[in-house]
Amino acid sequence: MRAVSKHLLGGLNATTFLRRHWQKQPLLVRGAFPAFEGVLDLDEMQELACREECDARLVLRQGQRWSVEHGPFSRKRLSRLPARDWTLLVQGLERVLPAARELLSHFNFIPYSRLDDLMVSYAPPGGGVGAHFDSYDVFLLQGPGQRRWRVGRQRDLSLVEGAPLKILRNFAPDGECVLSAGDMLYLPPEYAHEGVALDACFTYSIGFRAPSHRELVSRFLAHLDDGLEIDGRYADPDLRAQARPAHIDIGMVAKIEAVLGSITWSRRDVVAFVGGYLTEPASQVVFASPVRALTRTAFSKAVRQAGVELAGGTLMLHSGSEVFINGESHRVDGRNGAPLRELADRRRLQGHRATAAAMDVLYQWYRNGYIYLRKKRRI
Ligand code: SIN
Ligand code: CO
Repeated sequence: MRAVSKHLLGGLNATTFLRRHWQKQPLLVRGAFPAFEGVLDLDEMQELACREECDARLVLRQGQRWSVEHGPFSRKRLSRLPARDWTLLVQGLERVLPAARELLSHFNFIPYSRLDDLMVSYAPPGGGVGAHFDSYDVFLLQGPGQRRWRVGRQRDLSLVEGAPLKILRNFAPDGECVLSAGDMLYLPPEYAHEGVALDACFTYSIGFRAPSHRELVSRFLAHLDDGLEIDGRYADPDLRAQARPAHIDIGMVAKIEAVLGSITWSRRDVVAFVGGYLTEPASQVVFASPVRALTRTAFSKAVRQAGVELAGGTLMLHSGSEVFINGESHRVDGRNGAPLRELADRRRLQGHRATAAAMDVLYQWYRNGYIYLRKKRRI
């Protein structure tokens, strides 16, 4: 895995950062990415905001009034914006831009299972999304331009009612800083913050999701429901005449309780759920199968020569003898486990590392558009 540069966390190593700051307290790093120029310019960003694959939003402020528009946008809409007080946001950059994936790889010391996405915002002076909190761990990396951040650890997280986005009703900042290109601010979840552009500015948000218990439980129950095979039907051959017909008899409750009590799950079921849930692709992602797919034999030869890499929208994780890709699970063994886990960790696999046993599943993923052949290097 990529080593953490001495700049990224302001001289801290990953272990110290995780112990002192992660989920605990903010960290301001000056020059986290020295001479950082960002991964796209405004024209490229606007082009993405006009496409389906990335979630784009436009946040506009007029005094205390906020409005939000959702993409994809037309070029015409984006060319008719006022001189100040708005923000364009585009999420999921890593799905479409190799340079965005390269930027994310600096944060590989945090597991992919926690990664949400890379979002970019562009704002003219006065632009921002208001005082709010996120349910995410976030690294706010400043691109070109300057942004003033005000932050506060506050308990009162009540929101302005009826606003089209989350705006804190009583923002009480206790710290302030101005970020220039390459500076970075880490904030734990639920830390109140407000960023206002001082000049035309880009901000990159590297977000790490922390799903609520509510979400985990309801998604797990849905997963369990999908796989449950439950036979039988409610039966009461022992039914007795009842004086109060509206009364739910305790005997009926006990019978139903016994049925519910027969639902069990194992650690394997939980692993299968977690792997499937965390690799479920974003709704906008469409995997494009190769137009003229190679035959299985030609594919193996091409893999050996050039290797493969994951498509931008592909999510891949592994646990024990399972690998998960885009919501699917595959059992691996001693013959194909090492290369497939390597592909998940590095998002690419060199040709000589691909074993014969891995080829079948790689070919299937290639046909699905989950992986691409790497371009052959010219010498
Ligand atoms: C922004 O980039 O304007 C907003 C990022 C955030 O506050 O999470
Ligand atoms: Co935020």
